[in-house]
Amino acid sequence: MTREQAQKDIDELTEKINHYNDLYYQKDTSEISDYEFDQLLAKLIQLETEFPDLKQSHSPSQRVGGTITKEFEAVRHKHPMLSLSNTYSVEELEDFDKRIAKGLNEEPYEYFCELKFDGVALSLTYENGLLIRGVTRGDGTQGDDITNNVRTIRSIPLKLRGNYPTEFEARGEAFLPKENFIRLNKEREDIGEETYANARNTASGSLKMQDSSIVAKRGLDCYLYSMTTDTREVSTHEKSIDLLIEMGFNVSPTYAKCSNIKEVIDYILLWEQKRLDLPLETDGIVIKVNSVAQQKLLGATAKSPRWAIAYKYKAENATTLLKGITYQVGRTGAVTPVAELEPVLLAGTTVKRASLHNANEITRLDVRIGDTVFVEKGGEIIPKITGVMLEMRPVDSHEVEYITHCPECNTSLIRHEGEAAHYCPNLNGCPPQIKGRIEHFIQRKAMNIDSLGERTIGLLFDKDLAKSPADLYDLTYDAIFQLEGFKDLSTKNLLSGIQASREISFDRVLFALGIRYVGRTVAEKLANYFQNIDRLAVASFEELIEVPEIGDRIAQSVIDFFGNEVNRVEVERLKSAGIQLELAQQASTNISDVLNGKSFVVSGVFENFSRDDLKETIKNHGGKVISAISGKLDFLLAGDKMGPAKKDKAEKLDVQIISESDFLKMIDR
Ligand code: IVH
Repeated sequence: MTREQAQKDIDELTEKINHYNDLYYQKDTSEISDYEFDQLLAKLIQLETEFPDLKQSHSPSQRVGGTITKEFEAVRHKHPMLSLSNTYSVEELEDFDKRIAKGLNEEPYEYFCELKFDGVALSLTYENGLLIRGVTRGDGTQGDDITNNVRTIRSIPLKLRGNYPTEFEARGEAFLPKENFIRLNKEREDIGEETYANARNTASGSLKMQDSSIVAKRGLDCYLYSMTTDTREVSTHEKSIDLLIEMGFNVSPTYAKCSNIKEVIDYILLWEQKRLDLPLETDGIVIKVNSVAQQKLLGATAKSPRWAIAYKYKAENATTLLKGITYQVGRTGAVTPVAELEPVLLAGTTVKRASLHNANEITRLDVRIGDTVFVEKGGEIIPKITGVMLEMRPVDSHEVEYITHCPECNTSLIRHEGEAAHYCPNLNGCPPQIKGRIEHFIQRKAMNIDSLGERTIGLLFDKDLAKSPADLYDLTYDAIFQLEGFKDLSTKNLLSGIQASREISFDRVLFALGIRYVGRTVAEKLANYFQNIDRLAVASFEELIEVPEIGDRIAQSVIDFFGNEVNRVEVERLKSAGIQLELAQQASTNISDVLNGKSFVVSGVFENFSRDDLKETIKNHGGKVISAISGKLDFLLAGDKMGPAKKDKAEKLDVQIISESDFLKMIDR
């Protein structure tokens, strides 16, 4: 393809993708399927990989990330990012109102009320309609430049439309929607990762990740709540909000203009319950004086503006009796203690149980059975126990003795160093672990046998018909038909679901196997790299960590999995059952085979690629990436800041050292 043609295609694709993205994020509608959208994006990315110099800073391909930032650069804020002073009562709010009236010499004023979003403050700088920088709050004076991660937030425009000020700074709150937080934790639990405590910290941790492609998958969002510009006159906060909406930013539609403090109090009451149904966590409201001139007049202290204040909602709480603690065992053997409570009404729902997370949490709270405990539900999703009414403690109570044996199979529990959870190590004999593995195997994102559910898995397990995923492929019509509730049609349905799963691609099968820490993305990377299960099963630790995004922990987990005889037998049985254990030819993403048989060590920093991109590109052209320099190595691909030891070694062993531009020539770019 010629450069001109590539440029034309890139422009067209960019236009199309931006259009669909706007429809989706700003207008909540869609004209094409997710699959078609991903195809357009994949095409754009492919063109940009082939012609890196044609990639624009605002390309929608930035949304999927791919850059690695080792250290975020500190950036000074043009105007400090202040905090808000807090109030907790209507009286304090009325005092605030009196201070405002006095500060404005009794001239008329209006308020603008918004919810207080519980996320991470962001500062976004736009010049000539392009997003040029995204910075965290930091200490208020300077923050971290996290632009590459901010670009992955789909609702933040990379290029503005319409009549925007030539330069401005917008501020807002990045957050992880509750739904995505729950999904992420489910996915983590599913692969044996510890779950995150709350959405706010997860959002903040995500924005500080080095690999922007992982940030992209988190599904962060951002509500904008202010803007400042020297290049246009904006007389009220309301007008700046209108302008943000006009420019295509995501502004929560929950705001309201209030003429006096009474209306502010009505707003507070209106949102006290309704806020619990919003897609994100909120912990109060923010009350701002609407006129910008009046804001200036009122000024700020070193910490916070005098023209705004936050009213914090009290988390709803109740007291109830802790009747007992039960223990749940998950698919990975992790044990979770659960507080069994005397049912109590809290924020509109009856709470009967609350997670106690792990043994450390029980010790931290010093909860005892028979205690009267405080249960709280703030903006968060799940109610939590926050403390104990010590004065109500029964005299004969004693500290909780954490269980030492699995409640399901009575095996001694273990605790891995550095982990808070206890585990049951009886992988192949503990019922919830076995059933959990089958449930994991058949789920939609894995083998997609939707005619099989938790109940049927329980029946099959109890009747000794399914003790591992491979057993599913030995099931006969008669065996299923005699299960409780099964008739001719449901039996045939289940059999055809099992049959269809034989077509599921290798990457999904690999995810379905349930190797600890191997989620969908990791499974895809491993499948693409090793192409089939036999190569993966014999891969060494060094080979595994060569795969982009695969770290020590995942590598060790893969080695442990295939080191276990039971797993190897299971894989062989799946192979005999006709399951896809290699990538179909067309799924391989090779662009050419010009590097066939050539091995590369990649070292240093590169201009056009991150190191991981470069490794992927080598593979896409048929080459092999290895980590150690030896006499057999063909090329040392040297970037900036490569260590002198590597260079010396390569020279000594007569290995050819090539630059990034030599490499680009090799692959004909
Ligand atoms: S206006 C002077 N509006 O609260 C600060 N802040 O304690 C003006 N926040 O760092 C900020 N929702 O991250 C404003 N609707 C909202 C907000 C909001 C959440 C956060 C923001 C800020 C913190 C101040």
